[in-house]
Amino acid sequence: MRRNIVAGNWKMNKTFEEADELLFNIAEPLQNLDLDKTEVILCPPVLYAEMFTDIAIENNFSVGAQNCSNHSLGAYTGEISAAMLKSMDIEYCLVGHSERRKFFNEDSKMLAEKVDQLLENEISPIFCCGEVLEDRESNNHFDIVGKQIFEGIFHLTAEELDNVVVAYEPVWAIGTGKTASPDQAQEMHAFIRNLIAKKYNQEVADDMTILYGGSCNAKNAKELFALKDVDGGLIGGASLVAEDFLKIVQSF
Ligand code: PGA
Repeated sequence: MRRNIVAGNWKMNKTFEEADELLFNIAEPLQNLDLDKTEVILCPPVLYAEMFTDIAIENNFSVGAQNCSNHSLGAYTGEISAAMLKSMDIEYCLVGHSERRKFFNEDSKMLAEKVDQLLENEISPIFCCGEVLEDRESNNHFDIVGKQIFEGIFHLTAEELDNVVVAYEPVWAIGTGKTASPDQAQEMHAFIRNLIAKKYNQEVADDMTILYGGSCNAKNAKELFALKDVDGGLIGGASLVAEDFLKIVQSF
């Protein structure tokens, strides 16, 4: 179902005490915001999940993980399964973030398996896609993003796809302070929606929530979220500053 979402990706930041403090500074004010039309998702380091899920409902947010295993269980030292996430009341999980693709060599096959693991456990994947700078400069950005979407989620039925959120994150914009222009963001979001319409149908495409990520901040969120095909944001750096994150949440 299409809805406005702001998701904070804390990445590998904050010790337990620091996370506790940041959570408090975000969660307290969230309680008093009118968030009827916006879903807020916090994706902290999964080690701290319980501290978040314990207070999530009364503070108007949902909890997401940043990663999960592509296997269901067994001898995979250090891994966390989708079933484990579910048993900790986690509702969302990032899949295919460019940092995982790049630093952990996660390929399309593995990402599609992660999507399947999550859906089997009733967790909504937030499927990330996006091109690197060279792809954009050589005008290959639509092909690259199309391929990522095709290989990551187009094996799903329309019903399954309804539980997926897509996040378009141009890699050159992540953590760089170089945000995609409104035209660039709208163009790619419309392209993604159109791909879904072609593969499934217009109704499925219209129901898809597509987030923008990549140096989205308290200053530019309003302009980005006002775009026709942008339904919110996946926020990295700015989600670590309570005041900024709360401003972004109110940018619809
Ligand atoms: P950023 O990161 O907002 O710091 O650019 C976004 C992300 O990686 O999800």
